Amino acid sequence: MGNNKVKIGKLKLICHRKYSDVYEEFLDNKTYCLKVRRPSPNLAMKSIVESYKNYFNLKNRKGLVKVYDFWLKENTAYIRMEYLKDYISLVDWLKKNNNIERQKEVIIKILEIFFIMIKEGFIYLDYGYGNYMINKELKIKVIDLDILVKDRTQRLHWLGIGFLALLNNIK
Ligand SMILES: Nc1ncnc2c1ncn2[C@@H]1O[C@H](COP(=O)(O)OP(=O)(O)OP(=O)(O)O)[C@@H](O)[C@H]1O
Ligand SMILES: [Mg+2]
Repeated sequence: MGNNKVKIGKLKLICHRKYSDVYEEFLDNKTYCLKVRRPSPNLAMKSIVESYKNYFNLKNRKGLVKVYDFWLKENTAYIRMEYLKDYISLVDWLKKNNNIERQKEVIIKILEIFFIMIKEGFIYLDYGYGNYMINKELKIKVIDLDILVKDRTQRLHWLGIGFLALLNNIK
């Protein structure tokens, strides 16, 4: 986590949204994914900074995109992460895969990723399917870690465990 990183590689825009742009970045002969997140009314920049601090504090980051660097400049957050080449958005995957058994398999994998974070005392709160990418082997990666918070109540902790237990029962 740094403050004044200025070296940005050659950029190719992948996705433009109101408050963020996601690029494929070519830097020092490597390919990364660079997300540039502008201030938005519904998510304070200091919460985003907190989220990535939490990410870097996790011991087990299985199922999470690899984040190499995070910095703030002029109230804009920059997230340099691994570029997921052979993955597609779970939203697109769900449009093409309507087999309930396969969908269930995928949901269980997502819950297992949540569970790893819950065990370390963190909760991922951005459930939308647009925040996951999936490959042909049904490997899932959470790509958007802007809302990863400390579990201060323990209540959600138990909710997570309960939910996972329920899903295990219907397997
Ligand atoms: N690490 C990555 N590798 C490859 N593509 C990525 C990566 N991260 C994001 N993308 C692409 O950018 C899109 C938007 O990513 P992301 O969800 O992080 O943006 P966002 O601005 O938070 O969007 P939203 O507000 O809808 O959640 C993804 O659907 C995906 O196509
Ligand atoms: Mg997102």
